[in-house]
Amino acid sequence: MTNIHQFEVVIVGAGGAGLMAAMFASRTAKTAVLSKLHPTRSHTGAAQGGIGAALGNLEEDHPDWHTYDSVKGSDYLGDQDAIEFMCNEAVEAIYDLEHMGLPFSRTPEGRIAQRPFGGHTNNVTGKPVMRSCYAADRTGHMILQTLYQQCLRNQVNFFDEFQVLDLILVKGAAAGVVAVELATGELHIFHAKAVIFATGGHGRIWEITSNAYAYTGDGAAIVLRRGLPLEDMEFFQFHPTGIYKFGILITEGVRGEGGVLINGEGQRFMEHYAPHVKDLASRDVISRAMYIEMREGRGVNGKRYLYLDVRPEIVNKYAEIDGRTRPDGTPYRTTAQEILTKLPDIIEFCRVYLGVDPVTQPIPVQPTAHYTMGGIPTNQYGQVVYDEKNSPMPGLYAAGEAACVSVHGANRLGTNSLLDLVVFGKHAGIHAARYARGVAFQDLPADAADPVRQRLDEMLNRTGKEKTAAIADAMKAAMFHHVGVFRTEEGMKEVIEDIRALKERYRHVHLDDRGKIFNTDLLNAWELGNMLDLAEVIAASAVARQESRGAHARQDFTKRDDVNWLKHTLAWQKEGAIELRYKPVVITKFQPKERVY
Ligand code: FUM
Repeated sequence: MTNIHQFEVVIVGAGGAGLMAAMFASRTAKTAVLSKLHPTRSHTGAAQGGIGAALGNLEEDHPDWHTYDSVKGSDYLGDQDAIEFMCNEAVEAIYDLEHMGLPFSRTPEGRIAQRPFGGHTNNVTGKPVMRSCYAADRTGHMILQTLYQQCLRNQVNFFDEFQVLDLILVKGAAAGVVAVELATGELHIFHAKAVIFATGGHGRIWEITSNAYAYTGDGAAIVLRRGLPLEDMEFFQFHPTGIYKFGILITEGVRGEGGVLINGEGQRFMEHYAPHVKDLASRDVISRAMYIEMREGRGVNGKRYLYLDVRPEIVNKYAEIDGRTRPDGTPYRTTAQEILTKLPDIIEFCRVYLGVDPVTQPIPVQPTAHYTMGGIPTNQYGQVVYDEKNSPMPGLYAAGEAACVSVHGANRLGTNSLLDLVVFGKHAGIHAARYARGVAFQDLPADAADPVRQRLDEMLNRTGKEKTAAIADAMKAAMFHHVGVFRTEEGMKEVIEDIRALKERYRHVHLDDRGKIFNTDLLNAWELGNMLDLAEVIAASAVARQESRGAHARQDFTKRDDVNWLKHTLAWQKEGAIELRYKPVVITKFQPKERVY
């Protein structure tokens, strides 16, 4: 049996982007939010160190500086009109969140507190600027709770633990989605005038990741299978500081508060790689430096990790060397108490997962797969665009990490992800509701849920012997080692072959649970199918791009090549192969130049 619901706007995903979209869409349109999780378990809750906005609460700052830093951080692949739009909207977005009740950390005078983050600079002096607005190291958690409360207040209709498996397109426009209700295994059709995908990223494709288990690229995979392209999928960010072996995020806010990276020889190595901003260079630069340090034998105890050191005496030593001052001009000196107050969660994580107390011991860290820069192509209003001319697909929207606007280009600056989801979630919600007001519901085909039903039945009845976990492990290892921080043609081609072989094995996956109620065995296998599709797109897009730019660092093409590669990749899945085409980058104010940190 298929249950049918009708809403003007249906939003898939209940993280920050989905909830922002819901808040704004529900003002004028009957709106539903579907999430495979309870909303407050969404991955936005894992964002720690802050949300970027040039409030200038502690020192001079301007949206124009934020725009330039983001363009430079993107290695000039970000669309500059979209970046400028986001950075200009940022200040109002923060005050909106404050008025909704978000408990930001405060300065002694009661203003929203701000801290430095990688790549954010005073554009005159080139020194780090305090631009990240934060709630201790729980900023994403607080955003999620605040937005969820606002959505409940606005009586948004939530369908928790409903996993969306397909998009319904009628006459070239979005007309709804098909979802499975986890508790019953029943299929549901959500008939809609507009659909917004806010399903987050796909970091679970890699072995070591800061991403939640839920980050399996569901929205992007659905869109791909429905014949639409994905943009710039080769660009995936590695965050420099994940807990060694676990990948759990240790916020860049640690370095914002004065923490430094130290190699196995006790050296603060970032001063060699980024002499101006050192440990506050952009993430791609730092992750590469860490890999080089480890490759050249300067990992701690010869192993694949380095130290992040935030012990007060170390912070104070390097603050003195750097001449760092507080906003009032006094020398920057910290205490154990200040660190405990500003970074309570990461102190707790290190104590629990590592048995390490960061106040008295350095933290073992390694780069961890963190953020999806590519995704479903959209314009600034969240409309999904499907070709080289950016033609919008009627009724289809995407926002947040699932989308590629593109404001992050080849490398995102820390704090711009929360900003992206707040700004573009809002505009997707507004635009989708406006669109819904102007169109009628389309007639649905009688068999709208059939493709999903057939695929689920086929998966449940497989007789093969393959195990989901074994295939997933092989995919993750291949992607981590060959489509990670450093890449070569040979390694990536090998991965494409591996993924194709894994896809063949996947056709013979055996499910132990054949039931309907909370069949996580089935859904894990479904999600693996999504990740395998995306992994192939990522590797194919990456091997084709013969240059190094941002997070895409090739050892066989070590330079950025603006003549041939200053363009966005679009990738389609066609008859089992990946087709690549390209579209131009929007350049308004800033001509590409060499990045120096
Ligand atoms: O380091 C962090 O707190 C992560 C922030 C981000 O990815 O923007």
